Amino acid sequence: MENSHTSSNALGIKSLLGTETLSHSQIRTILDCASVYKTLWDQKKAFPKSPLSEKTVSLLFFENSTRTRGSFELAAKRLGANTMVLTQDGSSTKKGETLYDTAKTIEAMAPHVLVLRHASAGSPHHLDRILNLPVINAGDGFHEHPTQALLDLMTIEDFRGQIAGLKVLIVGDIAHSRVARSNIYALKTMGATVSVCGPRTLLPPKVEKLGVNVFDRLDQALEGQDVVMLLRIQTERLTPGQIPSQGEYTRFYGVNGPLLRKYAKPDVLIMHPGPINRGVELTPEVADGPHSVILNQVANGVLLRMAVLHLLVGGEALRRNK
Ligand code: CP
Repeated sequence: MENSHTSSNALGIKSLLGTETLSHSQIRTILDCASVYKTLWDQKKAFPKSPLSEKTVSLLFFENSTRTRGSFELAAKRLGANTMVLTQDGSSTKKGETLYDTAKTIEAMAPHVLVLRHASAGSPHHLDRILNLPVINAGDGFHEHPTQALLDLMTIEDFRGQIAGLKVLIVGDIAHSRVARSNIYALKTMGATVSVCGPRTLLPPKVEKLGVNVFDRLDQALEGQDVVMLLRIQTERLTPGQIPSQGEYTRFYGVNGPLLRKYAKPDVLIMHPGPINRGVELTPEVADGPHSVILNQVANGVLLRMAVLHLLVGGEALRRNK
């Protein structure tokens, strides 16, 4: 999938479409900027005036979302921007308007950034080609969810200081997960060793080509991992027969307290992009337990999206103090 053409901003890209083509230095620039925003937020200090101030961020969410939509909206508002939110049900796509015509119509209203969540892989790339403004991929089908992966990296750095040298395990429905794909690309670029574990029916064909280790058994996969990322079983995307039942999935791939205590490192981080299925991919004891950083991920989502918006509209690279 081709990436967006270059731009004169600090990232050197017009749009954020995925992590596959982001370099180490581009990811570093985004994480540093988010870290500066986090320090200011934690210290209750004012944010510097943003180039987005009094501009408009258009949010097209043509698939359901709580975290991504809410945090992009908050991020834009914390930067002083206005937002225009459209959802599939409330828009003229219900009357048959195409994505092309919808996007061109929105462009005519002169927003400064467009954020798109869509069920079709490649739809943000299409809009990037036809629109004269930055496009941010907020999740396209099974393909990528770059800001989720970047906020996950930010959270790992918060707790572990760095990503290089860490072992990260992703468990569950890798085949249908844009979060897994974006995380694999970004984590590997930043120097982590990535492994995946799940039923073979939920792993993409030739998964090893993504440069990951593959485990069939969760107990073996958990050993020595610094971070364990759990994925939601996406019932809306499964075809019949891919798993025998949710109960069977949980028996073999669900993470619970006794399993963690027996096989995982004592300081393992448990992550989940949400929404979680309590009692399926993890028990409430694990979701709400001392290893869980799930709500830290959510909080970082706002700050990371502020950084992405800031950088794409031409804000200077903010470097954190080492
Ligand atoms: N993680 C994530 O994308 O969650 P939402 O679907 O709630 O945005």
